[in-house]
Amino acid sequence: MIRSVLLGTGSALPKTCVSNAELAERVDTSDEWIVERTGIRQRYIASEHETTSTLATAAARDACASAGVDPASIDLIILATATPDNTFPATATQVQHALGCGGGIAFDVQAVCSGFLYALSVADSLLKTGQAKRALVIGAETFSRILDWEDRTTCVLFGDGAGAIVLDAQEVAEDGPGVLASRLHADGAHKELLYVDGGPSTTGTVGKLRMRGREVFRHAVVNLADVLKEVLEDTGISSEEIDWIVPHQANARILTATARKLDLPSEKVIVTVDRHANTSAASVPLALDVGVKDGRIQPGDLVMFEAMGGGFTWGASLLRL
Ligand code: UT7
Repeated sequence: MIRSVLLGTGSALPKTCVSNAELAERVDTSDEWIVERTGIRQRYIASEHETTSTLATAAARDACASAGVDPASIDLIILATATPDNTFPATATQVQHALGCGGGIAFDVQAVCSGFLYALSVADSLLKTGQAKRALVIGAETFSRILDWEDRTTCVLFGDGAGAIVLDAQEVAEDGPGVLASRLHADGAHKELLYVDGGPSTTGTVGKLRMRGREVFRHAVVNLADVLKEVLEDTGISSEEIDWIVPHQANARILTATARKLDLPSEKVIVTVDRHANTSAASVPLALDVGVKDGRIQPGDLVMFEAMGGGFTWGASLLRL
């Protein structure tokens, strides 16, 4: 059978790292509050010269180098972002141009924090149906540009960054590597709980992020546990067989609560929210790259991705490396 096999991972972070203590100098907050409620200790913030496309391009180059593939061999780029360089063209096309692999497919996916899961699932479908042979799936964000720095309930939570993976369409055995299953969901009824209060067709401005965090938290724990169960049922794989969960990094307490609901030990959860904060669509591939590069995630491992974000949107994917 044809599967989308992961060849390599990569990531990129802005140069500037801002600690909670530094943030507390300009926002009415404290290191204690942020650590206790979220697990976040620092975040990276893009400078004027760092954009979603420059971070995405750096992460894509890193992923190609890790995979040992020439960027020219990429014929599909799907970039998940809610903070594109421009309203159009798609940031993916700018990454494609920077990598020098023009002519293939390149487009953006907008599902906010679940964007990487949506992009992965679409890439998997295009690879399996033969429309492309080798894909870069990227999550990249500069959320610092849409934060209201006067709103302490949101501005302390987010950071900037990019993560990328290379997927290759390969003929593999039933028990071989590749994306095994994905499930995606959306429910537009909850827009007001997490949204940006601007846009090209409404205000004509970029807008700022607004979130009712406590309500989002409650939905996240329930939706994530449900979608993880769906993927396990689809594949007939039990939760004990999972080697690693690579979750969207919004809040350390959500990671713990979701793992507990599935009876998974917290040692199997890759946690990077402490160092990256919430980087929206970038958080899953950034965390994956950390787990792969520090040697915890190994070839043959069963790895579950999951995410939930504005919309609401949520999803999960299971891969064998
Ligand atoms: O990535 C997309 C998905 N997003 C999420 O999954 C986010 C989910 N939500 C969360 O992670 C949490 O709800 C938050 C971290 C956003 C907030 O934690 P919480 O425990 O739900 O706190 P809260 O919003 O209920 O606020 C508790 C208190 C409030 O004070 P009062 O009203 O109890 O006096 C807030 O004003 O904490 C106060 N507060 C702060 N204090 C210091 C809120 N933000 C801050 C802050 N520093 N930055």
